[in-house]
Amino acid sequence: MNRETKAAILCAGIAAPSADNSQPWRFEWCGDDLDLRIDAGRSGRVSDSRYVLSDLAAGACVENMIIHARSLGYAGDVQTFPRLDDELWAARIRWYRDPERDQPEPLAGAIEQRRTDRRFPWRGPITPETQARLNAQAELIPGQRLYWPQTSRERKAALGVIRQAETLRFRSPTLHAELFSSIRFSAGWHTTCEEGLAPATLAVEAPVRPIFQALRHPALMRMLNRLGTASVLGWRSAWLPIRLSPGLCLLVIPSTARSDVLAGGRALERVWLQASLDGLSVQPYAAAGVLGLGFVPVEPAFQRSVSRLGASLGELCGPGYGLVFLRLGYSRSAPPTRSGRRVPGSFAAPP
Ligand SMILES: Cc1cc2nc3c(=O)[nH]c(=O)nc-3n(C[C@H](O)[C@H](O)[C@H](O)COP(=O)(O)O)c2cc1C
Repeated sequence: MNRETKAAILCAGIAAPSADNSQPWRFEWCGDDLDLRIDAGRSGRVSDSRYVLSDLAAGACVENMIIHARSLGYAGDVQTFPRLDDELWAARIRWYRDPERDQPEPLAGAIEQRRTDRRFPWRGPITPETQARLNAQAELIPGQRLYWPQTSRERKAALGVIRQAETLRFRSPTLHAELFSSIRFSAGWHTTCEEGLAPATLAVEAPVRPIFQALRHPALMRMLNRLGTASVLGWRSAWLPIRLSPGLCLLVIPSTARSDVLAGGRALERVWLQASLDGLSVQPYAAAGVLGLGFVPVEPAFQRSVSRLGASLGELCGPGYGLVFLRLGYSRSAPPTRSGRRVPGSFAAPP
């Protein structure tokens, strides 16, 4: 494998989504083998307990690399978590030339085009054929599936769980601190930044931007929470956009083993790339599923709410663990601002 091919594969990996745009990846080449490690300095925050969010991002990164390499005539054997005593070593990929695969890979064309869109409302409908295409992409990764709330009762239940989880992100001081620390207010409201969440990507309406920015102060948030502000924010950030979007599905993973979470990230990325090819806008909502797993150490006052989230999700989607909701719909235009990425050289593992 020459240098250009290796660089192109890494660029595809770096284009993957990650929670809060944390980009928790480190790469190291050993000949033609590539090691993907979780970056200790960019992972393990409170919502990333047991590395659930980092493993999802690692899976999305692996899938982008596999898809792009395939379009260059390479296949990759992926071994996940090669050593149990090294929790940050997510995968080793052994690349080999595969002339049979030297053909266009449709999803590769969507790697640079895919992005998170937090605007609303969107148009529909999402046809059964489109749903079937998205289901097929998820199921290409063994054990993974999408659940689509069908009836109005199921949709209402899903909306309720997501709203409760998003509300909790503003009520719990721990989750609130984590949420606001990933927003780079220094970038202003019109430009992007190379790491973390640029305010311009958050689709906050101009008149409320100063108030939203002020909410980063814990004392103000605490005071306003006495007036029910967290609940209003949960309504605005989750309930309303989802209610006004034609599609909602949930990625369901078979177990909470780290290899299954990583595989979930691979499925998530395949679904998202297919959605992008189909012209769909996508916003993930991960709080309900991740908190529902029960690994995130929230304050005792919120522990009951968190266990209720897990139970409600279990009732909703059946066997397995509902992990990431995806809000879907058709938008007339691409979002004006896109989250940036660090320069490729910064992802090299330290010597
Ligand atoms: C595991 C995971 C969880 C995410 N959770 C959320 C979420 O709860 N809400 C949200 O608006 N975006 C969420 N995102 C989207 C990321 O913030 C987004 O991928 C990142 O900022 C990079 O932007 P891009 O997707 O436009 O490249 C999530 C992404 C991943 C991979």
